[in-house]
Formats: sequence, C-alpha cells, structure tokens
Amino acid sequence: MLHAVLISIPDNDRSVPGRERMRRQREAAAQALDESARRTGLPVLRWERDAAGVPVFEQGVCWSLSHKTSVAAGVVATRPVGIDVEVIEPRNPGLWEYVASAREQTLLPHRDWATFFRLWTAKEAVLKANRVGLSKLDACRLVASPTLSGAALTFEQSLWLVTFFASERILTAVAHKGAEVAWHRA
Ligand SMILES: CC(C)(COP(=O)(O)OP(=O)(O)OC[C@H]1O[C@@H](n2cnc3c(N)ncnc32)[C@H](O)[C@@H]1OP(=O)(O)O)[C@@H](O)C(=O)NCCC(=O)NCCS
Repeated sequence: MLHAVLISIPDNDRSVPGRERMRRQREAAAQALDESARRTGLPVLRWERDAAGVPVFEQGVCWSLSHKTSVAAGVVATRPVGIDVEVIEPRNPGLWEYVASAREQTLLPHRDWATFFRLWTAKEAVLKANRVGLSKLDACRLVASPTLSGAALTFEQSLWLVTFFASERILTAVAHKGAEVAWHRA
C-alpha cells in the first residue's frame, strides 16, 4: 500500500515573495513525505536532492514530491514512485500538442482542462518515477483511455500505472508499478 499525503498551504503563505514562498512549499512537501514515511513504516529521511535537483534515495527508500502555490504532496515507497500535483485551470492551448501525441488525443474522452491535466500529471509522475525530466516527455505514452481513477502508460517500453486523486481543482497523480494508493490530507 502506498500512502500519498497532501498538505494545503495556507493563504497567507501564498502572497510572500518567490524565494520564501518556495521555501514554504518545500517545507510543506517535506512534511508530506514525513507523514507518508510514518504511515508506510519507513524511515523519515532528510529528503535530500542531488546537484541536479533529483531526489537522493537512501536506506532503500524511494520518494517523490510535488509542490504548487496552494498545495504540496509527497509519497514514500520501497520501489520507484512518482507524484505530481497540479491546479486544474486553463493554460496555453498549445500545451495540448506539446503533451499529447495525435494518437493520445484520440484516447482522451474530452478536450477540456480536467482531461488535459490527467494526462499531464500522469506523465509528470511517470517521469519522476524514472528520475528524468521533461526532456523525456516523448518517451512516455498513454496506452489506453484514462479513467477518472487511473491510467496506464509506458515509459521506454516499461508499463506504469497511475492513480489519480481529485479534490476540487487540485489533481494529484501517483505513478507506480502496481499498488493500492491511500490518500491522506495532513
Ligand atoms: C522538475 C520536473 C520533474 C517537475 O517539475 P514541476 O512539475 O514544475 O514541479 P513539481 O513541484 O511537481 O516537482 C518538483 C520536484 O520534482 C523533483 N524532481 C526534480 N527533478 C526530478 C527528476 N529528474 N526526477 C524525479 N524527481 C525530480 C524535485 O524534488 C522537485 O522539487 P524541489 O525543487 O523542491 O526539489 C520536470 O518535469 C519539469 O521541469 N517540469 C516543468 C513543468 C512545466 O513546464 N509545466 C508546464 C506545463 S503544465
């Protein structure tokens, strides 16, 4: 069982200048990871990143985090795992072609922003689970129509499952190799 933890960032933290705002987002993400580790029965680490900003795994603990202005999320596991959280809101329409291939667009049930962010968060979560960045976006492909609860994708021929959690306009995706995901708000 994976325990994904979401933490809301208080309104008064959202208006502070950029550097301090990022520090608070990262602090909230670290709290989410602490809580995920405790619920999973794994050690609470220092959640360090390497020089490229990629999470450092220690003591057999894999982890992933995501943070936006209003929310942070974290998940800890004994196998590779990725998490992404996004606020569902209109973006540049050109992102559709950037994120979704022509074939993937035929698999998507609607052309709306809620659908776009299912694909976007799923791909981000799979990329993070593979410890790579957006330069590998095209190596990540949807294999079937996503449902409200999940999606299946391949990354370089390897199959990944994604579990979604939606609450109001916040959408979170966890990428894994086959696990139940429990969601917690801390
Ligand atoms: C860094 C990236 C992995 C995710 O970035 P993001 O969605 O903007 O931000 P998130 O908060 O969800 O994730 C950032 C976290 O991912 C982790 N991360 C960074 N590089 C990573 C990698 N190669 N593998 C796994 N995790 C990584 C880090 O912990 C980072 O948090 P930190 O900066 O506090 O250390 C990468 O995909 C990226 O550059 N994304 C840009 C997003 C973008 O352009 N979005 C516009 C379209 S909607």
